[in-house]
Amino acid sequence: MLEVEEVERVRSICERTLRQNWIEGVRAADGTEFAYTRPSPGHYPWQWFWDSCFAAIVWRRFDETRARTELETLLAAQRDDGFIGHTIFWGGPPTGFRRFTYNVLSLSDTMTSSIQPPTLAWAWRIAVGDPSQVEGIVRQHEWLAANRDLDGDGLIWIVQPDESGLDDSTQFDPIWRRRAHARPGFVSLVRRNRRLGYDMRAIADAGGPVCCEVMSNVLYGLSRLALGQSSLTPALVERMYDERSGLFWPLARPELGQRPPLTWAALSPLALPDLPEQIRRRLIEEHLLDAERFWLPYPIPSVSATDPSFSVKDIFFPGVKRYWRGPTWINSAWLVWLGLVRLGYGEEAGELARRLSDLVDASGLREYYNPYTGTGKGALSFAWSTLVMETTQPDPRAASSYLEG
Ligand code: GLC
Repeated sequence: MLEVEEVERVRSICERTLRQNWIEGVRAADGTEFAYTRPSPGHYPWQWFWDSCFAAIVWRRFDETRARTELETLLAAQRDDGFIGHTIFWGGPPTGFRRFTYNVLSLSDTMTSSIQPPTLAWAWRIAVGDPSQVEGIVRQHEWLAANRDLDGDGLIWIVQPDESGLDDSTQFDPIWRRRAHARPGFVSLVRRNRRLGYDMRAIADAGGPVCCEVMSNVLYGLSRLALGQSSLTPALVERMYDERSGLFWPLARPELGQRPPLTWAALSPLALPDLPEQIRRRLIEEHLLDAERFWLPYPIPSVSATDPSFSVKDIFFPGVKRYWRGPTWINSAWLVWLGLVRLGYGEEAGELARRLSDLVDASGLREYYNPYTGTGKGALSFAWSTLVMETTQPDPRAASSYLEG
């Protein structure tokens, strides 16, 4: 059981962090007003697409107007064709080394030409209301369907690892190899994709790689359900679920000759409300609750602890930190927690909530944590780690929007 005092302490650090990370202003170039939560003011000052969606979900507990404004600021950046970028530079374009690694077509662009997981419609449903009434959100989905559905089965494909939000995840190592995120060839990948206008079909035709990533499609699927559109779950199961291992795996073009490293993304379909029960049970009992691989002292590690690619050390290459290669992130823990709750694993869900709360109580809102010791790592005052509250203080009002699907 969580102590009442601890729940209060965690609540207050979450509220304080969201308030201090909030920024408002007017874009000098065109007078567009903006207001959003910086993921971490010192390290991540701009508006990141899925970070804003997660921040809005927690803002609804403290200030519903800010939850709505945060998401409306994403819509204020939208292009006429429906596209919304991965990062929006409200305060001016990136400078220094970031000019070479950011996914912009020209150095004066106000946002990247790459995407991040389409979490907006789902976040709107949880934090604001019915997204199908919002023209911009519907248009974003039309853009995704027209531009990112490679095989016409509804699943979307990404053109760079960072489009998944799981930038350096080891699942991408055999796909992008030396051109994976923050590897020496990444700059040349960005240069090539800029030349091809971040057009997924042109990139696939040029030999790729392109990837159909599990977790990105889970969030897209949740967003489609939030919009009242048909479920993606049957396509996800048919194309990415492997009956023998009881896990979901990414697809790639060119096709992979080997199975990629096992990461938490393989378990992320647990967040889907309509995952067949027998698949959900296997994900939980055979994998998530395995104390050697995922159910570590502070679950869940971003890579299975027995996978050779797992590491909790900070890996700098070349001079840049590589993420998602072992440590625990709170957004991932929350997504699998949803699956535990839905299948009635109340005790395990409660245990996960308690351990996440202990992490934040002891180490503050960090970007990620050592899954064995709980030591906080990466950026400070990290906004989406406030999602801890979704597990420690489940919101009964949200039940109809995400717990029951
Ligand atoms: C890191 C994460 C990415 C996140 C960004 C801002 O790059 O990998 O998912 O959106 O930081 O927090």
